[in-house]
Amino acid sequence: MTAPVVTIDKIGQYAGQEVTLQGWLFASTPRGRIAFLMIRDGTGVIQAVAVKKELDEDLFERLRHLGQESSLIVTGIVKEDDRAKGGYEMVMTGAEIVSEAKDYPISPKEHGPNFLHNHRHLWFRSRRQQAIMRIRHLCVQAIRNYFDDRGYMLMDSPIFTPNACEGTTTLFGTEYFGNTAYLSQSGQLYQEAGALAFGKTYCFGPTFRAEKSATRRHLTEFWMVEPEVAYADLEDIMSLCEDFLVEVVGFVVARGRSYLEDLERDISVLENVQKPFPRMSYDEACSKLGELGEPVDPEDDFGAPHETKLTQQFDRPIMVHHFPTAIKAFYMKEDPDNAARSLGVDVLAPEGYGEIIGGGQREDDLDTLIRKIHEHQLPMDAFEWYLDLRRYGSVPHGGFGLGLERLVCWVCGIRHIRETIPFPRTIDRLNP
Ligand code: 4AD
Ligand code: MG
Repeated sequence: MTAPVVTIDKIGQYAGQEVTLQGWLFASTPRGRIAFLMIRDGTGVIQAVAVKKELDEDLFERLRHLGQESSLIVTGIVKEDDRAKGGYEMVMTGAEIVSEAKDYPISPKEHGPNFLHNHRHLWFRSRRQQAIMRIRHLCVQAIRNYFDDRGYMLMDSPIFTPNACEGTTTLFGTEYFGNTAYLSQSGQLYQEAGALAFGKTYCFGPTFRAEKSATRRHLTEFWMVEPEVAYADLEDIMSLCEDFLVEVVGFVVARGRSYLEDLERDISVLENVQKPFPRMSYDEACSKLGELGEPVDPEDDFGAPHETKLTQQFDRPIMVHHFPTAIKAFYMKEDPDNAARSLGVDVLAPEGYGEIIGGGQREDDLDTLIRKIHEHQLPMDAFEWYLDLRRYGSVPHGGFGLGLERLVCWVCGIRHIRETIPFPRTIDRLNP
């Protein structure tokens, strides 16, 4: 009987049996008569022990000198081992070397971030990068489950768009058969059409912003999930943000504990993500920032230092609402009691991570919306379809956008957002 092909994450089910693994050489410690080969297969890493007298002599010599990231198929007996990370090791009975790799560029020695990002296509074979990508996948799964389980319909927004959604300064334009198309900054406006048709919809796709500065929070291409709900006000949207984040973080902690441990993440911080989240208005937040020695310029947006300072005061995400109308997008509904403030909310992640969600209630009055489009100097004709949503069956409605990479960055507890996406795009990087 030939040994079954299994994966390392499931190897515990085969203790005492002979199995086959298809993988790559992660690291090795060759001795004279024995070689310890760390094998990875994408689901985990296991130590396979090659003993000279148990194997063909030529094979043993080749294994002993095999370069890092060579591909190989190994067969062996699974043994329980308390000292091993996954609890098991393998004693090899045979191996087939599929492709020999020489001089793999990423060695265990320290490399600078630029070198690693230039080798991104290889770099995410490393344990830490694998953990981050696994957490990203779990976040996506949790997000989709959340909306799918609650009656939201997935309705993809287009990527080529005729107009700006989030201001004209970060638009990527591209030639489109003699016209200019813009890469989507947000799928929101189309979700508003969706919500008025289906009640509750969401989109989850790539969005683009020509961010002209290099920061550790900004990518030029990032993924955003955007739910939109008809018959909802700012209160409803804040409750949705809160419920959503508690559920998503809970799911990731439950399923991704071993990856978080690989990242040395303090999991207790994530376990604190429970309702209710502190809520404060922009004006309250400004007073608090003044007291904390990080004053905000009157009527100005928060910068990274403000968000960092503010979120360091709390052990869970906070929600800041009623931002100045002047600094917010044209579609945001003005507070009926104070036109200088808008019915928007930002959710700021703790530990200094800052904004991960932006959302709120949309302007549902036709005349006000027309005025706002003029004030923002946006091309009215590109928004005619959007105005129809106020002409035919307008209702109070709202939603939010969560930046996936900002979420992953915070959940993983890592410093820089560029490690949270398989192939990051920033002002100074389009490769690989
Ligand atoms: O706050 P923003 O600009 O809101 C919108 O786009 C709304 N139209 C969303 C909506 O209500 N449907 O962006 C939403 C989120 C931010 O909170 C942040 O997490 C993320 O998108 N984001 C970025 N992430 C990475 N790199 C960038 N350059 C980002 N810009 C925004
Ligand atoms: Mg925002």
